[in-house]
Amino acid sequence: MTIATVRALIEPHDLERHPLARAHTLPAQWYVASDFYAFELSHLFPRCWQYVGHCSQLPSPGCYLVADVAGRSVVVVRDQGGALRAFHNVCRHRAGPLATRNGCGARVLQCQYHGWTYTLEGHLRGIPHWDRVDLFDRRDYGLLPLFVEEWEGLIFVSLEQPLVSLSELLAGIRERIAPTDLRRLHFHTRVVYPIACNWKAYVDNYLEGYHVPIVHPELNKVLDYTRYVTETYRYYSLQYSPFRADSDTSTYGQNAHEAFYYFIFPNMMLNIVGSRLQVNLVQPLAAERCEVIFDYCYEDVCSEAAQAQIAADITYSDTVQREDGEICEWVQRGLRSGAYRTGRYSVEREEGVYHFHELLRDWLRIELAEG
Ligand code: FES
Ligand SMILES: [Fe+2]
Repeated sequence: MTIATVRALIEPHDLERHPLARAHTLPAQWYVASDFYAFELSHLFPRCWQYVGHCSQLPSPGCYLVADVAGRSVVVVRDQGGALRAFHNVCRHRAGPLATRNGCGARVLQCQYHGWTYTLEGHLRGIPHWDRVDLFDRRDYGLLPLFVEEWEGLIFVSLEQPLVSLSELLAGIRERIAPTDLRRLHFHTRVVYPIACNWKAYVDNYLEGYHVPIVHPELNKVLDYTRYVTETYRYYSLQYSPFRADSDTSTYGQNAHEAFYYFIFPNMMLNIVGSRLQVNLVQPLAAERCEVIFDYCYEDVCSEAAQAQIAADITYSDTVQREDGEICEWVQRGLRSGAYRTGRYSVEREEGVYHFHELLRDWLRIELAEG
């Protein structure tokens, strides 16, 4: 993928800076062209913090989880000292996987192909049938480490030196949502939705409540649409909505008077209502395909009352998610049709979409200037 190929997809005016009231949306080609997608996958995602899971999934040394980050398989493990480590899930022998599913209680990471073993710190330890091999130093064959950090119980990995630190990326969220404390939560369930659209089409849809009255008539009855506001920050935006005083929000538990919908550039969302956190990750799979991960976390994941509430919460979200997935697939067809190049934004309702597009255009401006 050369910069020249991507440049051919970008008209100079597509990268011009305009105020929201005069700006155009991103060109359809950026959602359709496989070259553009390949460029994002090789130049954007490897330098962005990507959510991989919750620390309650790795409670003790020897617990590990497997995740996909920008198309690469990654293994995250809690080492003997209790620290988090992340590695490419690729054995140094012949590229087999160290793990194919999450697990706990491992004393070493053992390759699932021919059984090479690595310490939880990533050093190569055991090699079956290795007599007579010459000019080989096992210190040269450790697992390749990645950047890994935790924030409020959520684990993030970056394949390369990240564009910004994790604390800078998420600065201010903790204070804004107080007294809700995300560190008290436990992972409950993961649900994954494949959607036939570009990852950005799904993000765009998430970033506005403009579509709520048409696409989600039931949700519209609960949210106080007149008080739905968007706040934009450096690397994230927040859609905030108090609930209608008369609405039934019992599925969210006590203290559910308001909803925080955070979008964190480029492809992550935190949906916080009362003491329930839903983490969404929009995984790019191909130019016109993505999957959306829903990780549900709650303060109480054990009691019988909580179980019933959680089941109701997940069922409810599932309905909304199907409505979103369906409209996003229609939009993708529209983007591919040749009948659409760019559109415009509602100043009142699409500030979040514009903010996301500006972050993407900022990244492109820098990439293309450097290239
Ligand atoms: S590929 Fe890992 S042991 Fe052979
Ligand atoms: Fe929606």
